[in-house]
Amino acid sequence: MDAQFSIRPAIETDCSEILRLIQELADYEKMPDGPKIGAEVLIGDGFNNAEAAYYHCLVAESQDAPGQLVAYCLYFYTYSTDVGRCVYMEDLYVSPNFRSKGLGKSLWQTLVKNALERDCVRCEFVVLDWNQSSIEFYHLQGAKNMSSQEGWVQLRMNESVMASFKAPKTLSNTKVRRALKRYLLYYYVYSTWEGRAVCMEDFYVSPKSRNKGIGQSLLEALLKIAVDKKCVRCNFKVHKSNEASLTFFSKIGSQNISSDEGWLLYRMDRNAMEEFIKVK
Ligand SMILES: CC(C)(COP(=O)(O)OP(=O)(O)OC[C@H]1O[C@@H](n2cnc3c(N)ncnc32)[C@H](O)[C@@H]1OP(=O)(O)O)[C@@H](O)C(=O)NCCC(=O)NCCS
Repeated sequence: MDAQFSIRPAIETDCSEILRLIQELADYEKMPDGPKIGAEVLIGDGFNNAEAAYYHCLVAESQDAPGQLVAYCLYFYTYSTDVGRCVYMEDLYVSPNFRSKGLGKSLWQTLVKNALERDCVRCEFVVLDWNQSSIEFYHLQGAKNMSSQEGWVQLRMNESVMASFKAPKTLSNTKVRRALKRYLLYYYVYSTWEGRAVCMEDFYVSPKSRNKGIGQSLLEALLKIAVDKKCVRCNFKVHKSNEASLTFFSKIGSQNISSDEGWLLYRMDRNAMEEFIKVK
């Protein structure tokens, strides 16, 4: 990496510069109206309580202009019920004049080092299908397109759908206590456009218990928790062959952001992560 730049964890006073770069990335992604949060939200969610921060952020600063940020990488830790701890890279962005100096790679390597220290076994992120130059960069570093290799479709519920969701039938506590073969596993995530969000990792009702409103009740419970926590999005992925789920989620107002906006899921697995941090 070019010695004129330093890479470091973001501090509270970086937030307005990070927001400037978030807007640059949204412009580049042809969604200029995407970012909706202000610096106070970024500060509150990332720095007010270090133990319970909603995200982590690394920044690249020019030595010549201290305080002026030229690149950032924002990420958070997630969980897979298949493999355990994972990390999700929400944004990786280098301002145009500072590209091809090794900053993008160094920021991502630092994220991956941090994640390996926490025993994460996957680094995941999404990229727009037309963003060929970034896709090439990601492939070069060992990431794989899981939308094409495994057939994942990205879905999202927005704030109004979450707030208005009501199960048609509320189960009694007894019925919920007996509901051993049904579960919904989730964790908190972060959107650099809208702030706090929740990700539904697994949502399962055993075949015998289906069509009794149990799935709707589980989802209602999650969305209540999420809305109470001021989450404004619920993200999740569904396999493209799972037509019943895709229909269910579409009926309740979820958006298929893979087909509507072109987001593809990418993943670097543990071996690739370990190789990646060795590269100079
Ligand atoms: C993608 C991006 C983060 C790469 O950052 P960068 O600082 O320009 O890239 P680096 O200088 O760290 O490049 C590291 C390596 O990748 C290669 N590389 C960089 N961009 C590449 C591209 N578009 N195609 C192929 N290889 C590329 C470099 O040649 C270099 O190879 P080397 O290690 O063998 O020398 C940056 O171009 C960017 O911010 N793009 C716009 C925003 C974006 O698309 N972000 C991702 C959203 S999902």
